[in-house]
Amino acid sequence: MVKKFLLPIIVVMSWVIAEDAYERHCVPCHAPLPTSLQRMFMNYLLVYGGEHNFKAALKHYLRYPSKDISVMPDLFIDNFGIKEKSTLSDKELDEAIDIYWNKFKVFNKLK
Ligand code: HEC
Repeated sequence: MVKKFLLPIIVVMSWVIAEDAYERHCVPCHAPLPTSLQRMFMNYLLVYGGEHNFKAALKHYLRYPSKDISVMPDLFIDNFGIKEKSTLSDKELDEAIDIYWNKFKVFNKLK
């Protein structure tokens, strides 16, 4: 009886642990949105430039999202709203943003 439940639990747990902070904290909420996280990365990069600004601005935005400072077009915001404030810890946010940066920064080099 116990064994029957243990295996699926172990499988699910290892799957959850294997996912990184970005996949856990960013991807699921973004999945239904029509603009990809990659596209948003490019928008963000265009506005905020280098790595330091990008990361600092995004961290602030995720905590204090607002229409005034969003890089997304008004039409997008009107349809999908402003994101909810992040309740992640400093460490979790830094980790997720670092992964986000490293994942898409390669496109930056093509400029
Ligand atoms: C609760 C859902 C949710 C979570 C979690 C979330 N996002 Fe978003 N995010 C949104 C929505 C909705 C928008 C578009 C509206 C807006 O910009 O506020 C958005 C916008 C953005 C933007 C554009 C910002 C701007 O200026 O408008 C970036 C970049 C972004 N998200 C990256 C991330 C990263 C990286 C994470 C993980 C640390 C993350 N998001 C977590 C829902 C979410």
